[in-house]
Amino acid sequence: GKDHRISKIASAIRVIPDFPKPGILFQDITTLLLDTKAFKDTIDLFVERYKDKDISVVAGIEARGFIFGPPIALAIGAKFVPIRKPNKLPGEVISEEYLLEYGTDKMEMHVGAVQAGERALIIDDLIATGGTLCAAIKLLERVGVDVVECACVIEMPELKGRDRLGDKPLFVLKEDM
Ligand code: PRP
Repeated sequence: GKDHRISKIASAIRVIPDFPKPGILFQDITTLLLDTKAFKDTIDLFVERYKDKDISVVAGIEARGFIFGPPIALAIGAKFVPIRKPNKLPGEVISEEYLLEYGTDKMEMHVGAVQAGERALIIDDLIATGGTLCAAIKLLERVGVDVVECACVIEMPELKGRDRLGDKPLFVLKEDM
Protein backbone atom coordinates (compact mmCIF):
# COMPACT_ATOMS: atom_id res chain seq x y z
CA GLY A 1 0.00 0.00 0.00
CA LYS A 2 0.84 3.68 0.07
CA ASP A 3 2.46 3.78 3.51
CA HIS A 4 4.89 1.06 2.52
CA ARG A 5 5.90 3.02 -0.58
CA ILE A 6 6.33 6.25 1.39
CA SER A 7 8.61 4.71 4.04
CA LYS A 8 10.85 3.28 1.28
CA ILE A 9 10.95 6.69 -0.43
CA ALA A 10 11.85 8.39 2.86
CA SER A 11 14.67 5.95 3.54
CA ALA A 12 16.07 6.37 0.00
CA ILE A 13 16.63 10.09 0.66
CA ARG A 14 20.14 10.67 2.04
CA VAL A 15 20.60 13.23 4.79
CA ILE A 16 23.97 15.00 4.82
CA PRO A 17 24.95 17.11 7.84
CA ASP A 18 26.67 20.50 7.43
CA PHE A 19 25.98 20.87 3.69
CA PRO A 20 26.20 23.40 2.06
CA LYS A 21 27.25 25.05 5.34
CA PRO A 22 27.62 24.17 9.03
CA GLY A 23 24.35 23.49 10.84
CA ILE A 24 22.34 22.60 7.71
CA LEU A 25 21.02 19.04 7.41
CA PHE A 26 20.83 18.61 3.61
CA GLN A 27 18.10 16.38 2.14
CA ASP A 28 19.80 14.71 -0.84
CA ILE A 29 17.28 13.32 -3.35
CA THR A 30 20.02 12.03 -5.71
CA THR A 31 20.04 8.75 -3.78
CA LEU A 32 16.26 8.47 -4.33
CA LEU A 33 16.92 8.76 -8.10
CA LEU A 34 19.30 5.78 -7.90
CA ASP A 35 16.58 3.56 -6.41
CA THR A 36 14.49 2.70 -9.47
CA LYS A 37 11.54 1.37 -7.41
CA ALA A 38 11.45 4.28 -4.94
CA PHE A 39 11.87 6.87 -7.75
CA LYS A 40 9.00 5.31 -9.72
CA ASP A 41 6.84 5.10 -6.58
CA THR A 42 7.50 8.81 -5.95
CA ILE A 43 6.26 9.76 -9.42
CA ASP A 44 3.34 7.29 -9.21
CA LEU A 45 2.11 8.73 -5.89
CA PHE A 46 1.92 12.22 -7.42
CA VAL A 47 0.36 10.91 -10.65
CA GLU A 48 -2.33 8.99 -8.73
CA ARG A 49 -3.19 12.18 -6.83
CA TYR A 50 -3.29 14.55 -9.83
CA LYS A 51 -4.35 12.48 -12.86
CA ASP A 52 -8.06 13.27 -12.65
CA LYS A 53 -7.82 16.89 -11.48
CA ASP A 54 -8.00 18.55 -14.91
CA ILE A 55 -4.48 20.01 -14.56
CA SER A 56 -3.13 21.47 -17.82
CA VAL A 57 0.24 22.70 -16.54
CA VAL A 58 2.89 21.33 -14.21
CA ALA A 59 5.21 24.14 -13.13
CA GLY A 60 8.57 22.87 -11.87
CA ILE A 61 10.94 24.92 -9.73
CA GLU A 62 14.67 25.07 -10.49
CA ALA A 63 16.58 22.90 -9.94
CA ARG A 64 15.06 19.74 -8.52
CA GLY A 65 11.50 20.52 -9.58
CA PHE A 66 12.95 19.90 -13.08
CA ILE A 67 13.60 16.28 -12.09
CA PHE A 68 10.20 15.40 -10.58
CA GLY A 69 7.96 17.70 -12.64
CA PRO A 70 8.37 16.40 -16.22
CA PRO A 71 7.54 12.71 -15.60
CA ILE A 72 4.43 13.80 -13.67
CA ALA A 73 3.43 16.19 -16.46
CA LEU A 74 3.82 13.49 -19.14
CA ALA A 75 1.81 10.96 -17.13
CA ILE A 76 -1.13 13.29 -16.46
CA GLY A 77 -1.17 14.81 -19.97
CA ALA A 78 -0.10 18.30 -18.87
CA LYS A 79 2.57 20.61 -20.26
CA PHE A 80 5.71 21.38 -18.27
CA VAL A 81 6.74 24.96 -17.49
CA PRO A 82 10.09 25.73 -15.81
CA ILE A 83 10.23 28.39 -13.09
CA ARG A 84 13.85 29.55 -12.97
CA LYS A 85 16.46 31.56 -11.14
CA PRO A 86 17.06 35.04 -12.67
CA ASN A 87 18.55 35.55 -16.15
CA LYS A 88 18.32 31.91 -17.25
CA LEU A 89 15.23 32.05 -19.47
CA PRO A 90 15.89 33.51 -22.94
CA GLY A 91 12.42 34.81 -23.79
CA GLU A 92 10.30 37.54 -22.27
CA VAL A 93 9.78 36.82 -18.57
CA ILE A 94 7.76 37.94 -15.59
CA SER A 95 9.60 37.85 -12.28
CA GLU A 96 8.74 37.73 -8.62
CA GLU A 97 11.11 38.73 -5.82
CA TYR A 98 11.03 37.09 -2.42
CA LEU A 99 12.75 37.60 0.92
CA LEU A 100 15.61 35.45 2.18
CA GLU A 101 17.17 35.51 5.66
CA TYR A 102 19.63 38.07 4.27
CA GLY A 103 18.57 39.89 1.11
CA THR A 104 16.23 38.83 -1.67
CA ASP A 105 16.02 36.30 -4.48
CA LYS A 106 13.94 36.13 -7.63
CA MET A 107 12.12 33.53 -9.75
CA GLU A 108 11.18 33.95 -13.41
CA MET A 109 8.72 32.39 -15.86
CA HIS A 110 8.29 32.83 -19.61
CA VAL A 111 5.42 35.08 -20.65
CA GLY A 112 3.08 33.10 -22.91
CA ALA A 113 3.98 29.69 -21.44
CA VAL A 114 0.63 29.65 -19.65
CA GLN A 115 -2.76 31.20 -20.37
CA ALA A 116 -5.29 32.76 -18.00
CA GLY A 117 -7.77 30.15 -16.79
CA GLU A 118 -5.36 27.22 -16.89
CA ARG A 119 -5.11 24.89 -13.88
CA ALA A 120 -1.59 24.39 -12.50
CA LEU A 121 0.24 22.09 -10.14
CA ILE A 122 3.58 23.41 -8.76
CA ILE A 123 6.31 20.82 -8.06
CA ASP A 124 9.55 21.07 -6.11
CA ASP A 125 11.70 18.61 -4.18
CA LEU A 126 11.47 20.43 -0.85
CA ILE A 127 9.71 23.20 1.07
CA ALA A 128 11.76 24.93 3.76
CA THR A 129 10.68 28.54 4.53
CA GLY A 130 8.14 28.46 1.69
CA GLY A 131 9.56 31.59 0.04
CA THR A 132 10.25 29.87 -3.27
CA LEU A 133 6.81 28.24 -3.58
CA CYS A 134 5.15 31.49 -2.54
CA ALA A 135 6.92 33.35 -5.37
CA ALA A 136 5.94 30.61 -7.85
CA ILE A 137 2.27 30.83 -6.80
CA LYS A 138 2.32 34.61 -7.28
CA LEU A 139 3.92 34.32 -10.73
CA LEU A 140 1.21 31.96 -11.96
CA GLU A 141 -1.66 33.85 -10.32
CA ARG A 142 -0.46 37.17 -11.77
CA VAL A 143 -1.16 35.78 -15.24
CA GLY A 144 -4.58 34.41 -14.24
CA VAL A 145 -3.64 30.77 -13.70
CA ASP A 146 -5.50 28.78 -11.02
CA VAL A 147 -2.89 27.08 -8.80
CA VAL A 148 -4.68 23.90 -7.71
CA GLU A 149 -1.98 22.65 -5.31
CA CYS A 150 1.75 22.65 -4.52
CA ALA A 151 3.51 19.31 -4.11
CA CYS A 152 6.95 18.47 -2.70
CA VAL A 153 8.76 15.28 -1.84
CA ILE A 154 10.01 16.69 1.49
CA GLU A 155 8.70 19.25 4.00
CA MET A 156 10.69 20.78 6.87
CA PRO A 157 7.70 21.45 9.15
CA GLU A 158 9.72 23.33 11.81
CA LEU A 159 10.34 26.15 9.32
CA LYS A 160 6.57 26.66 8.93
CA GLY A 161 6.77 27.21 5.16
CA ARG A 162 3.24 25.83 4.89
CA ASP A 163 1.90 28.86 6.81
CA ARG A 164 3.42 31.18 4.22
CA LEU A 165 1.29 29.57 1.49
CA GLY A 166 -1.91 30.82 3.15
CA ASP A 167 -4.86 28.66 2.15
CA LYS A 168 -3.07 27.13 -0.86
CA PRO A 169 -3.01 23.33 -0.38
CA LEU A 170 0.40 21.67 0.01
CA PHE A 171 0.92 17.91 -0.46
CA VAL A 172 4.16 16.27 0.71
CA LEU A 173 5.43 12.69 0.89
CA LYS A 174 7.99 13.02 3.71
CA GLU A 175 8.22 15.30 6.73
CA ASP A 176 11.57 15.98 8.29
CA MET A 177 13.13 18.12 11.00
C1 PRP B 1 16.00 24.58 -2.37
C2 PRP B 1 14.84 23.64 -2.65
C3 PRP B 1 13.70 24.58 -2.92
C4 PRP B 1 14.02 25.75 -2.03
C5 PRP B 1 13.15 25.69 -0.79
O1 PRP B 1 16.54 25.04 -3.57
O2 PRP B 1 15.12 22.77 -3.73
O3 PRP B 1 13.65 24.97 -4.29
O4 PRP B 1 15.40 25.65 -1.65
O5 PRP B 1 13.49 26.72 0.12
P1 PRP B 1 12.41 27.70 0.70
O6 PRP B 1 11.16 26.93 0.98
O7 PRP B 1 13.06 28.23 1.97
O8 PRP B 1 12.19 28.80 -0.30
P2 PRP B 1 17.96 25.80 -3.60
O9 PRP B 1 17.81 27.17 -3.03
O10 PRP B 1 18.96 24.91 -2.94
O11 PRP B 1 18.26 26.00 -5.15
P3 PRP B 1 18.73 24.92 -6.26
O12 PRP B 1 17.66 23.86 -6.32
O13 PRP B 1 18.79 25.71 -7.53
O14 PRP B 1 20.05 24.36 -5.82
